[in-house]
Amino acid sequence: MEFDVSELSDILKKQISQYKNKLDVSKVGQVVEVGDGTARIYGLSDAMVGEILQFENDVFGEVFNLEEDSIGAIIYGEYVKVKAGSDVRPAGRLMSVPTGKELLGRVIDPLCRPVDGGPGIKTQTTRLIESQAPGIVQRQPVKQPLQTGLKCVDSMIPIGRGQRELIIGDRKTGKTAIALDIIINQKGKDVICVYVAIGQKESSIAQVVDILKKYGALEYTIVIAASAGDSAPMQYIAPYSGCTIAEYFMYEQHRDTLCIYDDLSKHAIAYRQLSLLLRRPPGREAYPGDIFYLHSRLLERSAKLSDKLGGGSLTALPIVETLEGQISSYIPTNIISITDGQIYLQKSLFHSGIRPAVDVGTSVSRVGGHAQVNAMKKVASRLRLDLASFWELQNFSRLGTELDSATQIRLDRGSRMVELLKQAQFAPMDVGRQVITIFSGITGLLDDVPVIAVGQFMEAFLQWLSQEHRDYIDEINKTKELNDKLIAALTSAMHKYKKLQDGKGAI
Ligand SMILES: Nc1ncnc2c1ncn2[C@@H]1O[C@H](COP(=O)(O)OP(=O)(O)O)[C@@H](O)[C@H]1O
Ligand SMILES: [Mg+2]
Repeated sequence: MEFDVSELSDILKKQISQYKNKLDVSKVGQVVEVGDGTARIYGLSDAMVGEILQFENDVFGEVFNLEEDSIGAIIYGEYVKVKAGSDVRPAGRLMSVPTGKELLGRVIDPLCRPVDGGPGIKTQTTRLIESQAPGIVQRQPVKQPLQTGLKCVDSMIPIGRGQRELIIGDRKTGKTAIALDIIINQKGKDVICVYVAIGQKESSIAQVVDILKKYGALEYTIVIAASAGDSAPMQYIAPYSGCTIAEYFMYEQHRDTLCIYDDLSKHAIAYRQLSLLLRRPPGREAYPGDIFYLHSRLLERSAKLSDKLGGGSLTALPIVETLEGQISSYIPTNIISITDGQIYLQKSLFHSGIRPAVDVGTSVSRVGGHAQVNAMKKVASRLRLDLASFWELQNFSRLGTELDSATQIRLDRGSRMVELLKQAQFAPMDVGRQVITIFSGITGLLDDVPVIAVGQFMEAFLQWLSQEHRDYIDEINKTKELNDKLIAALTSAMHKYKKLQDGKGAI
């Protein structure tokens, strides 16, 4: 049989073009039901989970649930514009956000649209919102400190770059305050900060932005705002968006980054709302079973990358709000188990004026110790245990038992230490001053200063020291070491200062 090659190629060409055509036909589905930020859609049998959906009126959403004869979707933005019966088209791609330096100093919504009244943001690059966490080979151990500027944290719960440390406590115990102080302390330390506000009042978010501006911290920070007034899908996507933006700086610019998720309890509530609306089966405390996976896959993305990948890092500080100190409820226990430690803030401490209200007994940092500077390690190695035993002794002494002198000394020194660790907001302290403060407390140099005056005395001493012996502070800041010579010098400086004060009759 003879056949014509050109005829055959014509047939093949036609078939190929038809095949393409067939794929190109974008399927159109119909919205059958609209909920609070959710929609049920009929007719998109090929849709993938996570795929972007284009609704009418420029609204878009994401495939969330695949069911037998319909799909459940969440809608970003103005879901009131989506009506039952309207068309939906799959976009054939997954959710991504624009990334780049252009975002620095801006306040944006989780889809990277500005909400600070500034101009539109045009970036060169985008990143997928859902990406895989780096594997073992791509990481290296946490070894560089992320100085928080807070005495009680840097001395007892040190955080390393690439670590995940939970900040947990009841409402109004200073969680956001700690996070803000940490951001403010990164000035000049080459760390890009991302602050994600989830489910907070718009006024609180505005306050945060004002504070960052006031302390010159906004220029290296990106604020992502999903307020309580925003829809549940916006609140749900916000931390992923923030993480993705930080990842750009970590992977592509090889920079150190810090991501604060304030807070993940509200994130969990937004996710619960979506899941219940889309009729996912509820589990413990009515949260869907995958809430654990949701948070772990977010926090696993923080890392210290290997040198081969540029050595960038993403430190994550998730915040969780507890009810009446209940750290054993579902969301807190989940997140405690997927972080490298927690800073636990206690209401009773906060109200008795011990601020930051860090509970030393229940707070811990499991990896940051490797990243603590040597000078601090030297003076603060026993501080956590000493303070924990001080609180126990203090409870005991309330019973009115007579105490032996050794116990009394420990109690006195403990209460001075508590005073020394108090710190006002927006006053981060460099390592040098922190080390000198703690050194003075634990070596008993302040034993003759009345407990209530210790804080002020130390402040005045540091002020005097920075005028008279600035080099002592600079040496610790620079070398991060505290050698015997410096210890002797500091001790004699303290004696000298006390003599001066004695002369003035101050103590
Ligand atoms: N170290 C501190 N010294 C003085 N006031 C503080 C300190 N930390 C927090 N505050 C104040 O306590 C209040 C509650 O703090 P905030 O961080 O908003 O709590 P949370 O985020 O836990 O709800 C704020 O008015 C804040 O200014
Ligand atoms: Mg707060």
